[in-house]
Amino acid sequence: MLSLNLNAMRMDGSPYFTDSTEATRLLKAGEVVAIPTETVYGLAADATNDTAIAKIYAYKSRPQFNPLIVHVLDWRHCEHYANPCEKAHRLAEAFWPGPLTLVLPSLPQSSISPLCRAGLPTIALRSPSHPVARKILKETGLPLAAPSANPSTHLSPTKAEHVKQAFQGVSLPIVEGGECAIGLESTIVDVSTSSPALLRHGSILKEFIEAVLGEALEDHTRPRDGQVKSPGQMIRHYAPSKPLRLNVTTPREGDGYLAFGPYQGFHHPILNLSPSGDLIEAAAHFFSMLHQLQMLPITEISVAPIPMKGLGLAINDKLRRAACLSPHPDQ
Ligand code: TXA
Ligand code: MG
Repeated sequence: MLSLNLNAMRMDGSPYFTDSTEATRLLKAGEVVAIPTETVYGLAADATNDTAIAKIYAYKSRPQFNPLIVHVLDWRHCEHYANPCEKAHRLAEAFWPGPLTLVLPSLPQSSISPLCRAGLPTIALRSPSHPVARKILKETGLPLAAPSANPSTHLSPTKAEHVKQAFQGVSLPIVEGGECAIGLESTIVDVSTSSPALLRHGSILKEFIEAVLGEALEDHTRPRDGQVKSPGQMIRHYAPSKPLRLNVTTPREGDGYLAFGPYQGFHHPILNLSPSGDLIEAAAHFFSMLHQLQMLPITEISVAPIPMKGLGLAINDKLRRAACLSPHPDQ
């Protein structure tokens, strides 16, 4: 059982400054630390640790699981997590370390948490150039997931002080690294298919990338209706191979059951997201348990009701999308 819950995380203290040695110790212990990068400050955690990733989403207070960028020291490390292609290699040679994120096919047996990829078959990788980020990557020896260090409704932070202000009342270690030289999130290019596409504009311009690739990039920064949406809304969504039934308290014979909280029934097969009803533990197990259930010889997966609060909002959002229902019942 996890000792940590959302309320404890929100009321334990306040943001505080720490150094890279302590940050390394905390990250290796599965904690979240705000670290500087050359683009914006990031909320970093061990990308291979489901619980550490669930804590990032809890800090973000985001009602959705957007996939996170995994930060690595250099190109060599990508090969542990992704199926790199020649185009990606050329872009990394031209722009890494630096503000370019590459979306690649994820290796099926990768150690990266499925929650970090939000269940997608792809992974976003970036090698930051900020010396403090690089020191921490080197000293931890870990791939570090790091979304921008702001709660979901706030602006991205370009100074340690911004992070401190945005997380008032929340215990969060912050490593001071001065003002971010670029101050704008990284450019994101999807090289996971044969037609490379720009997913997010950044300081590495589309034409610089096209010059290196020798071909035009598709522009996926806007959906077809022309309205600007957040990048997370434009990516493919996790879709399990078995139909899902939601809010089920009495599963049918032959269904796989994804339980939450104390469950007294004798249903089989059953996996429990969190017998104690801890939403951080449930988020940590969410994608890996759905994957396990969909591998079984069952026709449907029934899912227990998950409370609509804290990380339960993101779990329910993902479940409704995966079950092909509208993301929010009221809209
Ligand atoms: O500059 C940056 O990229 C900063 C610093 C901290 O590195 N990080 C950052 O992360 O901006 P975040 O979470 O705020 O934005 C990451 C975006 C997600 O919204 C998502 O759209 C995209 O990256 N992304 C991540 N994985 C993806 C994937 N597998 N496929 C498509 N898009 C992905
Ligand atoms: Mg962001």
